[in-house]
Amino acid sequence: MKRDGENSGSLLPGFEPHEDYARKLDAADPLARFRDRFHIPKRADGRDAVYLAGNSLGLQPKTVRPLIEQELQDWADLAVDAHFQAKTPWYTYHEVLRESAARLVGADPGEVVMMNSLTANLHLMMVSFYRPTPERHKIVIENAAFPSDTYAVKSQLRHHGFDPEDALIVVKPRDGEHTLRTEAIEQLLAERGSEIALVMMAGVNFLTGQVFDMKRVTDAARRVGCAVGWDLAHAVGNVPLSLHDWNVDFAVWCSYKYLNSGPGAVAGCFVHETHGRNLDLNRFAGWWGNDPKERFKMHLLPDFVPRAGADGWQLSNPPILAMAPIRASLNIFDEVGMAALRAKSVRLTAYLRYLIEQTPSDHVEIITPRDADGCGCQLSILAHDRPKERFAAIEQQGIVCDFREPNVIRAAAVPLYNTYRDAWTFAQALAHCASA
Ligand SMILES: Cc1ncc(COP(=O)(O)O)c(C=O)c1O
Repeated sequence: MKRDGENSGSLLPGFEPHEDYARKLDAADPLARFRDRFHIPKRADGRDAVYLAGNSLGLQPKTVRPLIEQELQDWADLAVDAHFQAKTPWYTYHEVLRESAARLVGADPGEVVMMNSLTANLHLMMVSFYRPTPERHKIVIENAAFPSDTYAVKSQLRHHGFDPEDALIVVKPRDGEHTLRTEAIEQLLAERGSEIALVMMAGVNFLTGQVFDMKRVTDAARRVGCAVGWDLAHAVGNVPLSLHDWNVDFAVWCSYKYLNSGPGAVAGCFVHETHGRNLDLNRFAGWWGNDPKERFKMHLLPDFVPRAGADGWQLSNPPILAMAPIRASLNIFDEVGMAALRAKSVRLTAYLRYLIEQTPSDHVEIITPRDADGCGCQLSILAHDRPKERFAAIEQQGIVCDFREPNVIRAAAVPLYNTYRDAWTFAQALAHCASA
C-alpha cells in the first residue's frame, strides 16, 4: 500500500486484524445500539448488506415514516388549518429544525436555516457574498471540487461579466500528491489576496475525503479581506464544525449524506450573525424571508423587509413532507451528540485503514490524509489499474460503496450505523480484489 507523502500521522495503537477482534470492538462499542435505529439494506440472501455509501446517501431512520405519516394525517384532517393547528404547525416547521442543525455546524440558532437544495443555496449566498469589483473579483476553489460547485461559481463569474479562465483560481496539490496542503492555500491568499473576492471550498473534498483545515483557511482569507463560504455536503454530521467561532461568512450543505434525511432532502444554510443583522445586504428575496408577522399582509406590503438572521434568505414556504425526515434524523444526532460520534468515527476509520494496510498492494493506494484531523468517515482508494474491475469485485461481495471516475473507490464507515465488522469485511474484499 503506497502512502501519500503529506500524511504521516500515526494510527491508534493496538488493533488486531482478525474477524473475532472486529466483533469484540463491536461488542464494546457504546454507540452500537444506534444501528438498530436505521433500515439496513439487505443482500439477496437476506443478510444485512455492508453499507459503506453513507457519504452518498445516508440510511433511513426508522422514525422517518411515522413523522411523515403524521404530516399526511394532519393534511387529511386539517388541510389548510394545519399551518397553525397541526401537531407541529407548518407555518413554523423549519424553526423546529433550527437548534439541532445549528449544533451540528457550531452556529447560533439564528444563523441557520433549512431550505432549498445545496446548489440553490450556494447561488443565493453568492448573490450576497460574491460582490466583485474590477480589482477584486476572483474566486478560489479547490482542485477536484464537486462539479455543481464549479458550475455554480463559473456561472456567477460569467453573470458578473468575468471570464472563468482568468477569474477562477483552482488550488491544486503538489506534483505527486493527491491532497492539498493548507500552507499552499495560505500562501496563495497571502500573495494574491487583493485580487480575490471569495474563497468557496468544500469542507471535505468529495473525491479524496480530505478534511480541510477550515479555521486556518478562513483566517487566512479574512486576513486579506476575502469573503469565505464552505460547501459542507461531506462535512456536516461527519466532522466537528464551529462556523460561528471560525468567523465563516456563509456555508451550505445537503442533508442526504451523513444527515440521513433522504434523497434530495432539504438543504441547510449558515449566514454569520454579523451579516444576518445587516438587513441592507444585497439578496434575492421571497415572501418566506420576510417578517412572518407581516407576511399575510400580501399585496398590501409590496416592499420586502428581510427577517434578521439566516431566515431572511428564505424564498418559499417549506416543503413539510420533505422536512419531516430531517427532524427524525436530527433527533438521533441530538441524542448521540457529535463528540461521541466523532470519537467512534476516528477509531472506526483508523481501524479500516489499519486493516487495508495489512495487505500491501501496488494496485491500490489510500489517498485520504492519514492524520485524524484530515480525515472523516470516508477513505478514498485510488486503483492504479483496472479500477472498474476491482470495484465490481468488491460489489460482488455484497458491499455497497461507490466509484468515482476515473479510478477512485470511496468507502465511508459511518459511526451511527456501521460496525467494525463492516470495516473488516470491506478490507477482506479489497485485499482479494487488489491481490492481482
Ligand atoms: C460536495 C457537494 N457539493 C454539492 C452537491 C450538490 O448538491 P445538490 O444536488 O443538493 O445541489 C453535492 C452532491 O452530492 C456534493 O457532494
